Amino acid sequence: VPTVGLIGWRGMVGSVLMQRMTEEGDFAKVNPVFFSTSNAGGDAPVYAGMDAEPGTLQDAYDIETLAQLPVIVTTQGGDYTSEVYPKLRAAGWDGIWIDAASTLRMEDSSIIVLDPVNRNVIDAGLAAGVKEFVGGNCTVSCMLMGLGGLFKAGLVEWGTAMTYQAASGGGARHMRELLNQFGVLAGSVGTELADPGSAILEIDRKILQAQRDGSLDATQFGVPLAGSLIPWIDKDLENGMSKEEWKAGAETNKILRTQQRIPFDSLCVRIGTLRSHSQALTLKLTQDVPLEEIEQIIAADNEWVSVVPNTKEDSMRDLTPIAVTGSMTIPVGRLRKLEMGPEYLSAFTVGDQLLWGAAEPVRRMLMIATG
Ligand code: HSE
Repeated sequence: VPTVGLIGWRGMVGSVLMQRMTEEGDFAKVNPVFFSTSNAGGDAPVYAGMDAEPGTLQDAYDIETLAQLPVIVTTQGGDYTSEVYPKLRAAGWDGIWIDAASTLRMEDSSIIVLDPVNRNVIDAGLAAGVKEFVGGNCTVSCMLMGLGGLFKAGLVEWGTAMTYQAASGGGARHMRELLNQFGVLAGSVGTELADPGSAILEIDRKILQAQRDGSLDATQFGVPLAGSLIPWIDKDLENGMSKEEWKAGAETNKILRTQQRIPFDSLCVRIGTLRSHSQALTLKLTQDVPLEEIEQIIAADNEWVSVVPNTKEDSMRDLTPIAVTGSMTIPVGRLRKLEMGPEYLSAFTVGDQLLWGAAEPVRRMLMIATG
């Protein structure tokens, strides 16, 4: 049984990873060594399916201990990767590094992992001695889990995504901040809401006042999100693009390892949902393929994608963050040809940002690397 170092297992993505490893019985297939950045020497956690005694937490900054492991999985975040990874390689470590953070994603030495979409790229990398495997950006991974079939069939000439991204993409504190904002807003008009006869414009005025007068803690997001939206995610690249938008094109092409770059561009927006990212896509197809065939290609790509019939009832029931959160299913719906012409396809997809968007590709890579 291969020994695997686990770092960042207590964080939000790490907790989802531990949950998925437990559900899949993965702890019987590896011998986990748990690390901590703050509590070395403390008790290691126990998860269902573990054979061995859990032992104690190792120091996540101890290069010598880390360097003894054949495989390391980290969901600790980019700062940890930047600090530890170069030192580990400098110390001569030759193991496999599997990471959820973006730090190493676009390095030539790394592969972005999303095996239902790019297993061929992963296998070729392993055979060629690649040792860096990194989970993709959540929006990109969820998009490709849904629409990968069309890309793989060579049917996408270009694409654009308008995203509706959840608070969890920022982190656990962002989710709390959003919920607290909702609470303050509801509380500020509690009396009026209890009275069906109260004036709606008075409610509207009070809410707007609370959103503008500093009543809402917006430490994490910078501006209030509840009852609003933020049309910018991640850094300003100072060319009119956000880093999140840049990632969409860069990572999509790297994951697919396209011969010829497929232009893919986005406009990324944070909205007040909790942990599922949604996106509305426009794809320019390379040819006029009948809609029925398009649906078949999408549905046949992997076992998690599910085509939602383009009706009001189905869309409202199956194509929302509430329907998708906590599930591995990636619904794709609102499929129709646009007025611009028979090669122009509209689509809407939703994915759990912490499952396929973060923990699952990393978990599956660990199983591929140790299997
Ligand atoms: N950058 C993403 C977001 C996080 O902020 O939603 C997941 O890659």
